[in-house]
Amino acid sequence: MLSIICIFVMEPKLTNSMLSADKYIRESISGIFSPREASQVSMMILEKICGLSRLDILMGRDSDIKEEHKSMIDAIIERLINNEPLQYILGDTMFMDMNFNVNCNVLIPRPETAELIGLIISENKKSDVSILDIGTGSGCIAISLARNIPDSHVTAFDISEGAIETASLNAKLNNVNIDFRKTDILHFSPSGYVDYFDIIVSNPPYITKSEMKGMENNVLDFEPHLALFVSDEDPLVFYYEIARHSLAMLKSGGRLYFEINCRFGKSTADMLEGMGYSEISVIKDMQGRDRMISATLVK
Ligand SMILES: C[S@@+](CC[C@H](N)C(=O)[O-])C[C@H]1O[C@@H](n2cnc3c(N)ncnc32)[C@H](O)[C@@H]1O
Repeated sequence: MLSIICIFVMEPKLTNSMLSADKYIRESISGIFSPREASQVSMMILEKICGLSRLDILMGRDSDIKEEHKSMIDAIIERLINNEPLQYILGDTMFMDMNFNVNCNVLIPRPETAELIGLIISENKKSDVSILDIGTGSGCIAISLARNIPDSHVTAFDISEGAIETASLNAKLNNVNIDFRKTDILHFSPSGYVDYFDIIVSNPPYITKSEMKGMENNVLDFEPHLALFVSDEDPLVFYYEIARHSLAMLKSGGRLYFEINCRFGKSTADMLEGMGYSEISVIKDMQGRDRMISATLVK
């Protein structure tokens, strides 16, 4: 007699596991993170879901966590294995020592953007400056500048309603006042802001569509393409339009700051020179790549 034996292979779940939650998380994600990253990710998950600190984990308090927390952790692991960035799963991230909500409407703030903010803060020691951030996303640039430049007045534009909502919430959470405006900078009139700003900054979309093939799935599948991509035919479109409107919006002596695609340092600098900007510097990031540009407008 032929007997058919069905073997159901159960996926390991924390709900059925005898392991400590930390060990279980680290083992479950070992295929997608290095041991060091896995340990940091595990710590962040246990802190967010169970309120456990690093010390709690060292003391073994992660061995006895609530059933509902176990199933939440299993759901997070599943999303991580599906390439979703941890910051979107947990809903927030630390940037410039502040907490920012992030979701699918906004880019996750990057370390090179913190470098750009550091540059602006170090070069602008005056108080009472008027600042515009174009393409604000999570609000990370606008909020960090408002927090670090005393008595600054910050305005921030983004085309995305979802980004403006997220950035407004982040401004409240971090106790700063920012004038957020839903604005398409490619179809914009600067008439309300003539000779208005001391500083204009932007980290606009700058990755060309042809660069997509070298990119990680966790970026391509989850981060907003509206925030990332420009056409190969006109990769400087945002820089050109922002620099053009800034000719009207900056006060004389005002400063323009851009985060850039490292491939386009020279062409962006040449473009700014041709438009009448002076003191143009292409600045490298900590990896030694051209990633920032600053320029002055003298009227
Ligand atoms: C590279 S992200 C930068 C986000 C944030 N400033 C940061 O540094 O993380 C570019 C931002 O520009 C916004 N954006 C795209 N097209 C725009 C347009 N035509 N006008 C205004 N903002 C735009 C996107 O919604 C996105 O938030």
